[in-house]
Amino acid sequence: MHDATILDFEFEAHASPVADADRAALLANPGFGKVFTDHMVVIRYTADRGWHDARIQPRGPILIDPACAVLHYAQEIFEGMKAYRTPDGGASLFRADANARRFAESAERMAMPPVPDDLFLASIRELVSVDRAWIPESEGGSLYLRPFMFASETFLGVRPAQEYLYMVIASPAGAYFKGGAPSVTLWVSEHYTRAAPGGTGAAKCGGNYAGSLVAQAEAIREECDQVVFLDAVENRYVEELGGMNVFFVFEDGSIQTPPLGGTILPGITRESLLTLARDSGVTVREERYSMADWQADAESGRLREAFACGTAAVVTPIGRVRGRGMDFAIGNGGPGILTEQLREQLVAIQRGTAPDPHGWVERLF
Ligand code: PLP
Ligand code: COI
Repeated sequence: MHDATILDFEFEAHASPVADADRAALLANPGFGKVFTDHMVVIRYTADRGWHDARIQPRGPILIDPACAVLHYAQEIFEGMKAYRTPDGGASLFRADANARRFAESAERMAMPPVPDDLFLASIRELVSVDRAWIPESEGGSLYLRPFMFASETFLGVRPAQEYLYMVIASPAGAYFKGGAPSVTLWVSEHYTRAAPGGTGAAKCGGNYAGSLVAQAEAIREECDQVVFLDAVENRYVEELGGMNVFFVFEDGSIQTPPLGGTILPGITRESLLTLARDSGVTVREERYSMADWQADAESGRLREAFACGTAAVVTPIGRVRGRGMDFAIGNGGPGILTEQLREQLVAIQRGTAPDPHGWVERLF
């Protein structure tokens, strides 16, 4: 017997899945977000029936009406998580329960019906199991999972929709940054903020990313990899990057990251690294840090390292920071010692090559 909130999944196998040789060629160098597996999850919600009609079906386009609410008012949320190939050829998930929780919290913020945690987790397990051949075996490779949900009601009135589609697609992935960059350069956004108090910054909704793209485009024009957003009230304190949290490492060996508080995405990688650092006896602070202090500390040498972290980026050293009238390097511009140590500790747990003292890893098969 299963829990009442877990639906039985109807399975429709792909009639012509990607051939083994073609899949092997795709897995050799998947990049990020470009290659997709054969199947996807679809579950429907209506106000009168709740969640129903759970399916694993061939991945492909879906038909929506031009008046579909999400196309107009952007009532949409998503998650990002990974399945890993274990050393013995099995597969595992990392803190999937935390993604389920955050997805439910995002839903609440966007006035959407939460997907019950156990249904969310079941959908992930089902898809990874069906498309298991797509989990890369290469070092650094993983199967990126993208659960998402949107208002699918055909209606132009402005109110929470009464119909939703929840879906999961899967995408074999290598490094997020091109060429597995040893370090990235950030662009400090002067004109644009990402999230204001009372807004949706802590929710993983598509609108947050839409609003960040003009700043990301500016970063790309400036030959930088990611945007740093500052707080919307004083335009002084570092919040996070367009798609990653940020950490600072000081000469005394302590580390710091901006505190959560509604305007920052509560990253699961962020929380895991805070825990691992504390476990190793590192002094950890969740405190505000101004852009001016960042520059002054990098120039004086008090700040030794900085890194970005997230599911897609894992842990990526920040080598340089640029903005209008600002250009400074961090340390020697390459990966720092503590950054490397934390990255290795995290990756070893995720990939099952080190013990998992916090019970973060779920073995799938
Ligand atoms: N901040 C933003 C804006 C993100 O998009 C992400 C990526 O998911 C993160 C932080 C890191 O979150 P996580 O570590 O849970 O992937
Ligand atoms: C993730 O890390 O899962 C994200 O959603 C970030 C995005 C830049 C891909």
